[in-house]
Amino acid sequence: MTDTDIKKGLAGVVADTTAISKVNPETNSLLYRGYPVQELASTQSFEAVAYLLWNGDLPDETQLAQLRATERAYRHLPAEVRAAIDLVPLDAHPMDEVRTALSLIGAKDLAGTGSVLDVSGSTEENLARSVRLFAVLPAIVAYGQRRRRGQQPVEPRDDLDYAANFLWMTFGEESDAVVVDAFNRSMILYAEHSFNASTFTARVIASTLSDLYSAVVGAVGALKGPLHGGANEAVLHIFDEIGSAENVGPWLDEALAQKRKIMGFGHRVYKRGDSRVPTMKAALDTLVEHYDRPDVAALYDTLESEFVGRKGIYPNLDYPSGPAYNLIGFDTLTFTPLFVAARVTGWTAHIMEQLGSNALIRPLSAYNGPDERHIDGYVPDAAAL
Ligand code: SDX
Repeated sequence: MTDTDIKKGLAGVVADTTAISKVNPETNSLLYRGYPVQELASTQSFEAVAYLLWNGDLPDETQLAQLRATERAYRHLPAEVRAAIDLVPLDAHPMDEVRTALSLIGAKDLAGTGSVLDVSGSTEENLARSVRLFAVLPAIVAYGQRRRRGQQPVEPRDDLDYAANFLWMTFGEESDAVVVDAFNRSMILYAEHSFNASTFTARVIASTLSDLYSAVVGAVGALKGPLHGGANEAVLHIFDEIGSAENVGPWLDEALAQKRKIMGFGHRVYKRGDSRVPTMKAALDTLVEHYDRPDVAALYDTLESEFVGRKGIYPNLDYPSGPAYNLIGFDTLTFTPLFVAARVTGWTAHIMEQLGSNALIRPLSAYNGPDERHIDGYVPDAAAL
């Protein structure tokens, strides 16, 4: 095998087919089961898009009503899951709370399912599991932020749809319609993106016929990294470092001299801009107006034009979503857990697709260690015997 055969990071490698989404850098577009994500984000609820990702079509009224009823039934944070989150140190990263909570939920649901040979579950079992994770993650994320702030948890409200209830549980007050709409759009934009690192992680785990929960917990670990899901949190740290638009130039001079990665920019697949950014930027603009924060817009626009002008590297979805979540009031540490709450729909759709394909994912490697050698004449360390 020659070096040219090796595709580091699997860059440019088509590893399998998927019917769930199509990322097309040539046309700078993203389709969820054939629908442009821009259309879905501006016309659908996140519940309807979750249904689409799992089932392949948008729900009719009855199907959506059924999904909403099931989602409401599982919105509450079970006491034992809350107790597990409380065991996580307050200064741990919230993604460790999410991982802990999901691991316990999975262990309890799978308890008594017999041998390891039947944990992968049937499609209907995994659909039910997917809906339950979709429903309970807002409670996990909201509880985590309120716990860190020393606030009591807020119980879900059945009279509010998914996005409005998520905000209600997090902030303990009803959000304005413009905020709910911007948040709903962000969840749809974050929901799915073909074989990104966390989704492919989930598929690798599902390909061994392991269970859906183990695959989701593995994906959470992958998403935590700042080169992937952790970038939206990192964007806010950059905004905090820069402070205001006037400081962008000097800050960028120093950052680039230090060869720093500017979080929220660049993408492995999109090389001329992330197709989701215009829709999320429009949502950010509504929030800038709603909260009267032209300073945020100035910093955002200045950094974008400076960096794109110097390096020709364009923003990805994390760049507009970071300031948007900050304006809504989410703590910066809560941003990546928000990404989990959205992407759990795409992850679980891919897990079910992978389980249906029955193909173990196991690539090759090119060995570059020592040549073959033998232990004859080797004197072992007498103490080791
Ligand atoms: C997400 O895959 C998905 O679909 C992911 C995602 C999803 O929805 O699931 O879209 C979500 O993860 C978005 C990406 C969030 N991450 C960041 O914002 C972190 C900063 N971005 C970079 O780390 C980088 O752009 C990557 C990791 C996202 C993509 O990198 P690639 O395609 O592997 O390209 P590369 O790192 O090899 O960069 C090529 C060149 C390098 O310069 P040279 O070494 O050749 O001189 O471009 C430079 C890089 O240094 N570069 C950057 C940069 N991104 C690329 N330089 C500074 N800042 C950046 N952000």
